[in-house]
Amino acid sequence: MASYLQIADDEKGHELDLFCVPRHYENDLDKVIIPHGLIMDRTERLARDIIRDMGGHHIVALCVLKGGYKFFADLLDYIKALNQNSDKSVPLTVDFIRVKSYCNDKSTNNVKVIGGDELSSLSGKNVLIVEDIVETGRTMQTLLSLLSECNPKMVKVVSLLVKRTPRSSGYRPDYIGFEVPDAFLVGYALDYNEYFRDLSHICILNDQAKEKYKV
Ligand code: IMP
Ligand code: MG
Repeated sequence: MASYLQIADDEKGHELDLFCVPRHYENDLDKVIIPHGLIMDRTERLARDIIRDMGGHHIVALCVLKGGYKFFADLLDYIKALNQNSDKSVPLTVDFIRVKSYCNDKSTNNVKVIGGDELSSLSGKNVLIVEDIVETGRTMQTLLSLLSECNPKMVKVVSLLVKRTPRSSGYRPDYIGFEVPDAFLVGYALDYNEYFRDLSHICILNDQAKEKYKV
């Protein structure tokens, strides 16, 4: 079982005033729940765990856009740092896929894969799927079943966040950064209708903001 840093349901988080938050979002957020620095520290360790397990062979890191892009870039920087500072190293190539399943703050049953390279190029490869957050698990299960049709040699999934929710299908990624309460989170590339990707810390969105940015 993957180990992770648990953020408790009664976690109070940190006052916004103690951190740098863009002015245009000041009234939209309740609390900072995971500061950027903590995300980076945990990501550094995930990189080490992943290289320990997958390090023997060429890895194709598959970024699930758009929410995964910050985590993907930072995780790969840490993997690169390990590669260039140790005796053993593995070639790392990248690939991107776009998946959409959300409208407002609700997961829809309809998981759409839009764009990205041909998945068939992953045949015979060691694939590391890099995702921002797993909630119901449907997005990842859909992606995994699509991928299995292409016969990769190995598939591992790393998700920065996993939500503790009764809506979960029971799916758990191989590597998890943090387990978080059942709230809608934004920042560090996680969005609400495309807003809040330009926020460094992971924060809880308030109800007013859900109305304000509703589509
Ligand atoms: P799932 O299919 O229910 O596991 O949802 C996974 C996808 O929904 C993630 O890749 C996110 O893009 C999105 N998502 C789920 N929860 C949140 C959240 O709290 N904030 C932002 N996006 C979320
Ligand atoms: Mg995502």
